[in-house]
Amino acid sequence: MTQDEMKKAAAWAALQYVEAGTVVGVGTGSTVNHFIDALGSVKDTIKGAVSSSEASTEKLKALGIDVFELNDVSELDIYVDGADEINAHNQMIKGGGAALTREKIVAAVARQFICIVDNTKHVDALGQFPLPVEVIPMARSYVARELLKLGGDPVYRQGVVTDNGNVILDVHGLSITQAAELEEKINQIVGVVTNGLFAQRGANIVITGTPEGPQIK
Ligand code: A5P
Repeated sequence: MTQDEMKKAAAWAALQYVEAGTVVGVGTGSTVNHFIDALGSVKDTIKGAVSSSEASTEKLKALGIDVFELNDVSELDIYVDGADEINAHNQMIKGGGAALTREKIVAAVARQFICIVDNTKHVDALGQFPLPVEVIPMARSYVARELLKLGGDPVYRQGVVTDNGNVILDVHGLSITQAAELEEKINQIVGVVTNGLFAQRGANIVITGTPEGPQIK
């Protein structure tokens, strides 16, 4: 079974959490693209979606799914998204696709975060995947110096501008043992919009694609 087949199996398994008549929170990435295809198969039963990126919005609309502004939606039952890494406590690193801030906002509104991953995303300790940090452009060098003080090695993601008009620093070499504390510490650096640690608000349900089929925890 390929990695993409495992992503697809996890994504389609998430369909069981989609309730008729609701607005569904939709994340970003290659795993979520499979989920959007799955959502297309039930599009007449749902009200629509709230999306975490321009890319997902485009794909949702192309399938004929209504996309709502988050400000026009008072509650969301579920938010379905992938992850770059996930640990045993359901804490994640996200932002490989640079959509971390909108992802964190939509996740904050949702009652349940359903994380869909293939089995390569599970790790004992977060941090092998460089931690993305979205930064206001004029603060880039200052924030990079502050991240160095925290023991990381920040690398400017060249040529990438987020949907919010900001830049991304990918922090290498972090050994993340206290994920929730580090999430807060980095967010307190002036100029940081948010960072890709989803530890304070982790996943409620994790669906992992494996060669034996999707496993739900
Ligand atoms: C997007 O910014 C990320 O948070 C994605 O959720 C993450 O990169 C997972 O992507 P894939 O599903 O493409 O592996």
